Amino acid sequence: MTPDAIRRVNATLDRCDLEALAAAFHRHLFSAHPELREIFPDDVVALRRKFGDELRAIAAAIVDLDGFVTRTRELGQRHAGYGVGHDHYAPVGAALIAAFESELPDVEPADLDAWRRAFTLVAETMMEGASANPFSGVGSS
Ligand code: HEM
Repeated sequence: MTPDAIRRVNATLDRCDLEALAAAFHRHLFSAHPELREIFPDDVVALRRKFGDELRAIAAAIVDLDGFVTRTRELGQRHAGYGVGHDHYAPVGAALIAAFESELPDVEPADLDAWRRAFTLVAETMMEGASANPFSGVGSS
């Protein structure tokens, strides 16, 4: 990630009403993928808080290069435990971008690009962590 992209990721987050962004994200995600609703908690308030945690985790991961891979691999392992599969990452990334577009009218294409890159970077290492198998050799999937 370039310093400009990292700045954009944090600046868009600071400009957002996270509650409204969370609501928009869930609207986009669950209308496109209703089957994903059941792996999240029922409680809508907990759900919105979780969303904020997820965005902050992305913003924190991309600036902490030393801790990055360890943190995101572990995060990915925990997600496998929540029932999150590799196929779920792309729809979540798309719903996130759609939420920024609908909730931040002045969002710039470069801001959305920065988020796409940050999400992809984090998601890739999470998926790698989720597939980590102590009995397998190098990358079997
Ligand atoms: C870049 C991608 C993602 C990041 C950074 C992320 C981050 C987080 C964080 C920080 C938590 C709080 C719990 C913990 O630390 O283990 C969490 C929980 C959770 N995330 Fe994600 N997440 C991502 C992608 C996804 C995807 C693709 C799904 C699946 C649709 C998902 C579903 C969940 C669920 C179900 C929980 C637990 C809710 C609960 O039972 O309390 N996340 N995520």
